[in-house]
Amino acid sequence: MTVARRIDGKAKAAELAVSITSDASTLLVEHGIRPGLAVVIVGEDPASQVYVRNKKRTAESCGFHSVQRTLADDASQTDVLQLIEDLNGDAAIHGILVQLPLPEHLDEQAITQAIEPSKDVDGFHFVNIGKLTAGRTSDAFVPCTPAACMLMIEDEIGSDLSGKNAVVIGRSNIVGKPMASLLIKANATVTITHSRTKDLPQVVAGADIVVAAVGRPNMVKADWIKEGAIVIDVGINRVEKTVDGETKMGLTGDVDYDAVCAVAGAITPVPGGVGPMTIIMLMANTLRSARFSAGLEG
Ligand code: GUN
Repeated sequence: MTVARRIDGKAKAAELAVSITSDASTLLVEHGIRPGLAVVIVGEDPASQVYVRNKKRTAESCGFHSVQRTLADDASQTDVLQLIEDLNGDAAIHGILVQLPLPEHLDEQAITQAIEPSKDVDGFHFVNIGKLTAGRTSDAFVPCTPAACMLMIEDEIGSDLSGKNAVVIGRSNIVGKPMASLLIKANATVTITHSRTKDLPQVVAGADIVVAAVGRPNMVKADWIKEGAIVIDVGINRVEKTVDGETKMGLTGDVDYDAVCAVAGAITPVPGGVGPMTIIMLMANTLRSARFSAGLEG
């Protein structure tokens, strides 16, 4: 029986934070530019507030200029668009992120598409999606979660995935689709699966690389996984957990971690896997945008 290597996203993110902080400091000293990140939150969704606070704290710890703009949950579409227009025109801001989900009455697509593509550090603008889909990542912003997953995969097996089968579970615009584009660019043979996929366990069983991004706690079982596969768990599900007879709320992924550990070659834990790496990718994208603004390469 194998025991999967635990891919430590928290440790890797801490390492990357050191180099991002150092590069940001160099950019400031040599070009007088401090990377600036603006995070927009509409309403008071508690989970979104936690995410936004983490992003702000991480940006500050990397030495970035960091602003948070909070709008009331009854803010109008015009209010949000006006704020984005202001941030698009603000030379101190290199990255703009509107935290999703937005309240129901707002048009999410119109809002994400209003962000200037060169400041779209979430990689949600059609210009950035188009570049990624065309395989041109040299000047595109890649969405943070799939970028984080890709770095962890590369760390495990290198950047050329020729001959590898990758199965992505979930077809969202934020994770599943851009993940597939990155895997294709790295020469993997990619299958995207979703809720309408037939015989999902059998499809997953053919995968050397599995990326689970569905939002269903512990859905991916050990008998779905090929011996030695790399398993990346994007799920962050709030569930009741019993530890030492005490029941508390805790986080769990989309993968049945303990059981899959006995089969997989490497696996990301939840928490401490993809999550911390995603925030660092946001910082990497913001730094990249600031460097582009100075005429430098990313
Ligand atoms: N909500 C959940 N994930 C994300 C993300 O990657 N970006 C934004 N803007 N909102 C999110």
